Amino acid sequence: MNKRPVIICTDPGIDDFIALAVLLQQPQLDIRGMIALSGNVGLPITVNNALLAGELCGRTDVPVLAGSATPLARPARNACNIHGASGLGTSVERYSNRKPLAQDAAEFIVQTARQFPGALEIISLGPLTDVARALTLDPAIAQLLRQIVVMGGGIKRGNATQYAEFNIVADPEAADVVFSSSAPVVMIGLDATHQCLQPRSQIAEMAADTELGRMVGLMLNDYADMYRRVHQLEGVVIHDAICALWLLQPNLFYTEPMRVKICLDNGAHLGQTMAVTDGAPFATVAMGLDAEGVARRIVDEVHRAVIQ
Ligand code: RIB
Ligand code: CA
Repeated sequence: MNKRPVIICTDPGIDDFIALAVLLQQPQLDIRGMIALSGNVGLPITVNNALLAGELCGRTDVPVLAGSATPLARPARNACNIHGASGLGTSVERYSNRKPLAQDAAEFIVQTARQFPGALEIISLGPLTDVARALTLDPAIAQLLRQIVVMGGGIKRGNATQYAEFNIVADPEAADVVFSSSAPVVMIGLDATHQCLQPRSQIAEMAADTELGRMVGLMLNDYADMYRRVHQLEGVVIHDAICALWLLQPNLFYTEPMRVKICLDNGAHLGQTMAVTDGAPFATVAMGLDAEGVARRIVDEVHRAVIQ
């Protein structure tokens, strides 16, 4: 089987961790590295959590790199109100004793894109800072990438603000670099992910009496508590795990070609992903999904990961 080379950019983060558990067990994916960057929580914590994911999923062969500690041009935001100070909820605080690979993240992306011309897929589950740095370092890689799959944005809604989704508004300048490049961008945003609100009852199907299974159960229950408190929602939207399914089963999504522009004006609309009629390259934008099919595949994939 020709395995598909993939780089994961991530800011774990509870939903990132679930996505990593799904992606790290796929035999058809050649995960070349996980780049942990500042996003939901600060850099040292996201690096720690990515290292933990590798350990608990039996994938310490996958290198973890420390990505950007701050956005390109603004102070860092965080989402501790959703993910807790540890990034993995309020019940989980664990420390890895491993260290990340000592290589610059942008250089790693460029080197890997050139090593796998036309084949490398990048999936971004956090801010786009390091993807943007790589495209700036070597713009020609835009033509070498098979796709850049972005969990982020929302044409009809935001979550961090009324108009902007967290990953985009956390580094809007980086998102502008990525969406205005000629790279093939796939946007899995809130228009799609919010159609898959999974009930608490499904959390028990994703937990198990294993080290990873117990951790997943604790994290997702905390996530549900925080979703109830912050978003007044009963259940969980596991955004990054939903995005990960694009790599496994893209026919679960309904997409439209759209020219997407990132609002960089300071103010209420900062970080908004706007559909425009010209002045931006086309992206493939997920505007819907098969909610039952997505939820079932996530439950099945996570269950398989935690019982191993
Ligand atoms: O808006 C949801 C996204 O922001 C997810 O990637 C979550 O982990 C946070 O990074
Ligand atoms: Ca994330």
